[in-house]
Amino acid sequence: MLDLFADSQPWQEPLGPGAMILRRFAFSAAQQLVQDIDAVASRSPFRQMVTPGGYTMSVAMTNCGERGWTTDRDGYLYSPIDPLTNHAWPPFPASFIHLYQQAAAAAGYPDFQPDVCLLNRYAPGAKLSLHQDKDEADLRAPIVSVSLGLPAIFQFGGLRRNDPLIRVLLEHGDVVVWGEESRLFYHGIQPLKAGFHPLTGDCRYNLTFRQVDKKE
Ligand code: SIN
Ligand code: FE2
Repeated sequence: MLDLFADSQPWQEPLGPGAMILRRFAFSAAQQLVQDIDAVASRSPFRQMVTPGGYTMSVAMTNCGERGWTTDRDGYLYSPIDPLTNHAWPPFPASFIHLYQQAAAAAGYPDFQPDVCLLNRYAPGAKLSLHQDKDEADLRAPIVSVSLGLPAIFQFGGLRRNDPLIRVLLEHGDVVVWGEESRLFYHGIQPLKAGFHPLTGDCRYNLTFRQVDKKE
């Protein structure tokens, strides 16, 4: 069958001040990215973290890079050691580096130098409540977020939790970049609808690249 979208070019969609969606930007790299997610997870497995309040998150997470986002009894932190394996997190796969460089440059952030990639895996029903990404020391750098597999509804608000929300469907290959005025905007993911994707099966993956340590 003729697939009219097979070689469609990525396109940009404004999302807010300093924020945009690069639609299908990761589409052609997706197969390699999913393979590399499996490789990262074979060393630092996906796990459902427990918040300081004792709540088990529905999203399963792991990390790669110099440090990783994790929880402990006192709060959230970026740790150089995976507390599950007691080893360093795996390094960035080459496909991850290539993608964040291209995406950040396309979104107008050519100097982006992330040191952490948080990997999220959503099973049907998993969600991420409205939150700000504010545990990073360097807020001049954007967040670069890559969606793979099943589609999900992304909520993007403002600086206050009860600011009005934009809801957009993020599909396989979409990349969202937010920085500058919107760097601390609240955002979240609505409960994932069950489905099947040829590359990821019954789940959605999300990669978020973060620059945690201050760079000169
Ligand atoms: C996040 O806010 O860390 C992840 C967002 C997403 O899964 O798209
Ligand atoms: Fe986030």
